[in-house]
Amino acid sequence: MPYTTITGIGHYVPKNVVTNQDLTAVMETSDAWIRERTGIEERRYIDRTKETTTSLAVEASLRAIADAGIDKEEIDFIVFATLSPDYYFPGSGVLLQRELGISGTEIAALDIRAQCSGFIYGLSTADQFIKSGMYKKILLVGAEVHSVGLDFTTRGRNVSVIFGDGAGAVILEATEDKDQAVLSTVMHSDGTYAEKLSYMYPGAHGGYFIEKYGLEGFDVEYDLENNQYGGVFWNQDMLDQARVYPHMEGQAVFKMAVRKFPEVIMEALTKAGLGIEDLNLLIPHQANLRINQFVANTMGLCDHQVYNNIMRYGNTTAASIPLALSEARDEGKVKKGDVVTLAAFGAGFTWAAAVLRWGK
Ligand SMILES: CC(C)(COP(=O)(O)OP(=O)(O)OC[C@H]1O[C@@H](n2cnc3c(N)ncnc32)[C@H](O)[C@@H]1OP(=O)(O)O)[C@@H](O)C(=O)NCCC(=O)NCCS
Repeated sequence: MPYTTITGIGHYVPKNVVTNQDLTAVMETSDAWIRERTGIEERRYIDRTKETTTSLAVEASLRAIADAGIDKEEIDFIVFATLSPDYYFPGSGVLLQRELGISGTEIAALDIRAQCSGFIYGLSTADQFIKSGMYKKILLVGAEVHSVGLDFTTRGRNVSVIFGDGAGAVILEATEDKDQAVLSTVMHSDGTYAEKLSYMYPGAHGGYFIEKYGLEGFDVEYDLENNQYGGVFWNQDMLDQARVYPHMEGQAVFKMAVRKFPEVIMEALTKAGLGIEDLNLLIPHQANLRINQFVANTMGLCDHQVYNNIMRYGNTTAASIPLALSEARDEGKVKKGDVVTLAAFGAGFTWAAAVLRWGK
């Protein structure tokens, strides 16, 4: 049975840098608050006239394709992880296929909706397809554009200051060489906490779960009895009440994240037949520098064993891990033969980890 190896990697971020200080012009916040609580110093936002989630993905993909030294027509499957797709449907995978100019290949394109865990969910999915022999050269992308969907008033500041735009991509190929392969992947979720980090409007739920679970602070006026054929997926009240924004209960997310990261990292290492002492580099999802420092301390890891770049990009959700992995490689922090662990936690809640031996 073949293993999966990363043969190419690339990332792309928009040129427009937005500092913490810049955000103080539109909301009540401060550079000190953002740095202390999250470690973030700046993030990138797209140029709204020329960039989208897919266009960022194209740039990252072209770099990964060039790095792998393959022809884009050789790609036999696209996996695209994002929570900020260009369209509600169709998915971003087909848009990426078109923008790369490979629609004629008629290969399948799959969108993954596992938020911050999306890249590792995508890696695990791609890994199964390669092991089964069904596909041989898979393009896996994580890309996000948050800047067009945030509440940039003081009301939304707990969420808006955290997120940024960016993309990362890898080419995954089959190999017989276990010394440069994905050694394990693990994925988990617990839907009990679905609304704690959510973007619920517009949506088909019509307030059902809000009533069922007595959720507070999500109400939107629906007249379901007198309005059988319209206005459920979206309606004017959602806009009037400014419900069309992400919702985050930061402390609940933080508490669960610091518990689940160490668990899932150890699970993936154990599944790979390794221990924490074998780990050369941990690339955690970049949600909050304080979460990652807490995890590193809990696990007894030194600074050089954990790669963080949230200071420069904020939280780029599904893009954060490939963006960090790509930068770490470019900076020479990942070397051939290194044991690298990727780990993520996010909305759902979902969490996941992967262990690989770096082969590039
Ligand atoms: C979001 C987060 C940084 C907030 O930090 P916190 O210590 O939990 O802060 P709180 O939400 O309790 O808010 C504390 C105060 O700061 C205020 N505040 C929130 N955002 C602010 C901002 N951007 N600037 C200034 N003040 C802010 C709050 O209004 C609150 O004020 P109050 O005490 O007067 O009511 C933190 O909870 C976090 O990072 N959680 C994890 C989030 C995460 O990882 N999300 C992505 C998962 S993939």
